[in-house]
Amino acid sequence: MKRGKKRSAILLSTMLVTSGLYFAPVNLPIKAAAAAQDVTNPSIKAFDQKVIARVNAERIYQDLYYLSETIGPRVTGTEGEQQAVEFIKNRLLSLGYKVETQEFSIPDKTIGHLHTSDNNEVMVNIPAGSAATPNEGITSLLFDAKLGKAADFTADAKGRIALISRGEITFKEKVDNAVAAGAIGVLIYDNISQPGPLNPSIGGEAAVPVGGISKASGEALLKDVVTQGKTVTMNVQRLKNAKSQNIIATRKPNQGANHDIVHVSAHIDSVPFAPGANDNASGTAVALELANVLKSYPIDKELRFVFVGAEEIGLVGSAHYVSKLSQDEVSRSLANFNMDMVGTGWDNATAIYLNTVDGKANIVSETAKATANRIGTPSELVLYQRGSSDHVSFHDAGIPAVNFIRREPGTANLEPYYHTPNDKIEHVSIERLKEAGDLVGASLYSLIRK
Ligand code: BES
Ligand code: ZN
Repeated sequence: MKRGKKRSAILLSTMLVTSGLYFAPVNLPIKAAAAAQDVTNPSIKAFDQKVIARVNAERIYQDLYYLSETIGPRVTGTEGEQQAVEFIKNRLLSLGYKVETQEFSIPDKTIGHLHTSDNNEVMVNIPAGSAATPNEGITSLLFDAKLGKAADFTADAKGRIALISRGEITFKEKVDNAVAAGAIGVLIYDNISQPGPLNPSIGGEAAVPVGGISKASGEALLKDVVTQGKTVTMNVQRLKNAKSQNIIATRKPNQGANHDIVHVSAHIDSVPFAPGANDNASGTAVALELANVLKSYPIDKELRFVFVGAEEIGLVGSAHYVSKLSQDEVSRSLANFNMDMVGTGWDNATAIYLNTVDGKANIVSETAKATANRIGTPSELVLYQRGSSDHVSFHDAGIPAVNFIRREPGTANLEPYYHTPNDKIEHVSIERLKEAGDLVGASLYSLIRK
């Protein structure tokens, strides 16, 4: 790792001397780095324009549409993530890249489905400790158990799924009371309005399947199902031996061996119930477009696009990717550009944050700042200390890494749609996708071009 950093610094200072470029060496203070920049250099600007002229906002938007609307949620280890993997893989192959699929195991997980007898799907979260159902699920009438206190249950609860409101007593007490009354399942609905379903924590193993649903869903079930004697079907399955994947597309320079490597990453997966338009179809779609734009320009460094699975369950895919790099590859790794949430249309998110794990500038942040100055990126760039995305895995391996992410300047707030079913394409800005593509694309090209 030390070797890698030293090598990069030497390489950069050589470039500064020999080609008049102005990358800031890693250790240069930001002010000195800014002074070293020649924002008027016409040849570098021409290189930038080669990239910018080709970054196509419409294509990025179409890919984002496919990922977030056509596929929808891409939860780790599910069919949705797999569909996104196929889409990305096929695109990269069609662009002429060498493509590798890296499969890895993820922890066992529980998935739930809930639908009414008139075929309305209800969003449900299954808490740790819920019992599973048979494969076909359990189908029954609902019993309106109010707050789920012992006195709220009557003999009618026996053999039914108890529908219980959040509040006053613990989730565990509600489940215990339902089980004592002979209920065969429990659905707990929220008492405050939130876009996603409730995530109840039931503290231990329950004897019956348990699900959390939103306030709106609970009220709709009371009105349309309980009072009209319809049934619901609840299905809870434990997924064992689940897998996720990384897709890696590589382009090597024509000449020489032992080149430095620049890694571009974006995670494929989303959280449950979120179409993940911004988090992170935005980063995925911009990375796909940069793979297109940079597929044939002459380069003297190795370019790798890493489409990462299982980010949302703890950066599992990127940790796996980094763990499979050889010591030699790590030491040749110059930079990681990680795009995660680059496209929100939320008005307040006027800044592009350059998140680094240690809050310090590095070759990626310095390259991005220099590029933004040259190309006139409209948004303010803010260097900020934050983990929470795949750049952490690269950083931990000693590779300089930045997470590009849109936030509100000053507060560093994320968009209000974050990790909710409202993370939809209607809240994405096509101009901001283009801005991210131009910034990261021109930055990349300034590092890897011949
Ligand atoms: N897209 C977010 C990135 C993010 C969120 C960056 C908040 C900075 C702040 C990412 O997908 C995410 O949600 N990350 C998780 C952490 C991860 C280790 C599971 C998070 O922040 O909760
Ligand atoms: Zn994310």
